[in-house]
Amino acid sequence: MTLRPLFRTLLPILLSFTAGMARAETADIERRLDALMAQMTLEEKVGQLNILSGETLATGPVTFKGDHATEIRAGRIGAMLNVVGVNSTRQYQALARQSRLKIPLLFGQDVIHGYATTFPIPLAEAASWDLPAIERSARVAATEAASAGIHWTFAPMVDIARDPRWGRVMEGAGEDPYLGSRIAAARVRGFQGRGLGELDAVMACVKHFAAYGAAVGGRDYNSVDMSERQLFETYLPPFKAAAEAGAATFMNSFNDLNGVPATGNRHLQRDILKGQWGFTGFVVSDWGSMGEMVTHGYVKDDKAAAEASILAGSDMDMESQVYGKHLAELVKEGRVPMATLDDAVRRVLRKKFELGLFDDADRFADAARERSTVGRPEFRQAAREMAAKSIVLLKSDGRTLPLSPRLKTIAFIGPMVKPARGNRGGWSVSVPGHDADRETVSQWQGLAERAKANGTRLLYAKGADMMGSDRSGFAEAVRVARQADVVVVSVGESWDWSAEAKSRSDIGLPGVQEDLVKALHATGKPLVVLLSAGRPMVFDWIADHVPNVAYTWWLGSEAGHAIADVLYGDHNPSARLPISFPRSVGQIPVYYNHFNTGRPATDGKQEEFKSGYIDSPNAPRFAFGHGLSYTSFAYAGLRLSTTRLGARDTLTVSLDVRNTGERAGDEVVQLYLRDRVASVVRPVKELKDFQRVHLAPGEVRTVSFQVDRDKLSFFNDKLQWVAEPGEFDLMVGAASDDIRLSARFELLE
Ligand code: NOJ
Repeated sequence: MTLRPLFRTLLPILLSFTAGMARAETADIERRLDALMAQMTLEEKVGQLNILSGETLATGPVTFKGDHATEIRAGRIGAMLNVVGVNSTRQYQALARQSRLKIPLLFGQDVIHGYATTFPIPLAEAASWDLPAIERSARVAATEAASAGIHWTFAPMVDIARDPRWGRVMEGAGEDPYLGSRIAAARVRGFQGRGLGELDAVMACVKHFAAYGAAVGGRDYNSVDMSERQLFETYLPPFKAAAEAGAATFMNSFNDLNGVPATGNRHLQRDILKGQWGFTGFVVSDWGSMGEMVTHGYVKDDKAAAEASILAGSDMDMESQVYGKHLAELVKEGRVPMATLDDAVRRVLRKKFELGLFDDADRFADAARERSTVGRPEFRQAAREMAAKSIVLLKSDGRTLPLSPRLKTIAFIGPMVKPARGNRGGWSVSVPGHDADRETVSQWQGLAERAKANGTRLLYAKGADMMGSDRSGFAEAVRVARQADVVVVSVGESWDWSAEAKSRSDIGLPGVQEDLVKALHATGKPLVVLLSAGRPMVFDWIADHVPNVAYTWWLGSEAGHAIADVLYGDHNPSARLPISFPRSVGQIPVYYNHFNTGRPATDGKQEEFKSGYIDSPNAPRFAFGHGLSYTSFAYAGLRLSTTRLGARDTLTVSLDVRNTGERAGDEVVQLYLRDRVASVVRPVKELKDFQRVHLAPGEVRTVSFQVDRDKLSFFNDKLQWVAEPGEFDLMVGAASDDIRLSARFELLE
């Protein structure tokens, strides 16, 4: 027998053996869980459902005035957040060992885009459309965080966002349910690695359930009102994908949905998440969101908030303290069934068992592992690659970029150039023993290293602050620009202008930065503008006048290196926008997968009685999926395996993509579909698949997609997931507004 047939014979035995082991382990956990539950008092059970922030760091309004140590020893705290590093987690865990049942604490943390090694903000990573790279980023974050005693990250945020005024747009994957779903699953896989219990895995927490991203007016914490179909079609898919990828926990959200706060929303949590989707993990509330139901006007007091929350399926109370104060009493009064409480407690304890904390509460918190893990060089390298993959080349004149190594002088101008902090963005973790600013490669540092290696002189002027109206630095900036062969201007939003509670009503470049760009443009020098921000900004003048524009978001610890890699062409840009960039705030919300309406307007035409603006085109400034490369690609030879698809058939779509330029590069080939006639109207285009192909100059590759029934299905007016017979348009392109090939096929009865 050669090895391969032997392996084939042994594989099923091996698999059934490991499946058997997994079953045995699960049965063992359930037995231990039963035994523990039998010993617990009502108060101890409630304690497991209480998560409080540590004393030194807060990511929300702190209301707890008591003594953490006393509460932990009394078994009234089951989990903590904002306790960072092995030393601190060990100290708190030691207190838990002094409680009657010695139930270990869980430590959760907002590890949103890296731990000590900061990766690009999630929206920037989404722009890479590179699922393995995104998974790797989450893997690195989990490995670092787990080595520091953290068990649980409050990520990924999978809220679909069509409104860039909303500051939290930076934490998600943009506007598209398909891309968002693929990225959600990749992030969950990355965080949870080979599974809970592994020393490099943390529990994912999928948030914010649900529809938080649709807050009216883009104002954080605001209300959401939407049809059930819209909810299922656009906002829920990434949550479902994350649940299917095995996410251990979910977080609910601050908003009310159609008048019912998400935290008290039985339909969302019990019917959909734990019911239809069979989610077996636990749901944590958002910070204070149980208590806030009183302010919403949904319940009359904290006790009613606790009752509504637990009955609706919120298992753990973050920082409202309404469970700690009222849940035991509610159970005694019979208003909350013991079985409901037990179910929530079991969900939480099960995860502690799965993590192995009952065998060794400090198994993650190992100082030597923390030292040898956090900030490893290969993590920095991964952060650099991820950052380069996230930069979107929006415009290029085909001459200035990539920068020639033979340039004599470059002027690097702008308020984003020197400060390191600006590149890390919101939600960066302060890790004890690490000076994150010093460990971040500023844009100046990155470009200076590279320019020096080429013998290029790099000149600097700040030009202006990010905020304010001071133009006194313009003259110096112009003087410096005049001495250079190429001017690179780096402008943007301050790092604390996008994230939680950072909504903006005007998403233009703050301060006088646009005027600075105008002044530099007037020098006539070849100009490149870098825009760093945590959201799509409006920068119409720049988009109209500057020939080279790259969106650099907030790129993390390796920002400077990554920017230099892209500017010099060591990395050929291949990122694509995961969200539409509006021309003006007045266009918001603007998204590619809209309905046609009965009176669609033709952009560029002034037509009466059409669904357009009289003062603006409908099309966004830069469309979903847009992004350029230093090379070019041609699409040809679209082939469909059939144009008449049987109900159970799969359609194979193939095409040839050729690199027609002179550099190797990646193309992200995007497949869109449109259901032409359906029982409920369908979007003009929906992303259904994409593929990244790497092509050497002149190389041609065949790209194939499979279109099955699922890709043709949608929620009908009864919320059934159906594919209706009829005609479909199939479009393949380089962006949602750059369709290169199209065809039509029919789905038969
Ligand atoms: C509130 C935020 O909405 C949530 O995303 C975060 O995880 C918690 N605070 C904890 O910091």
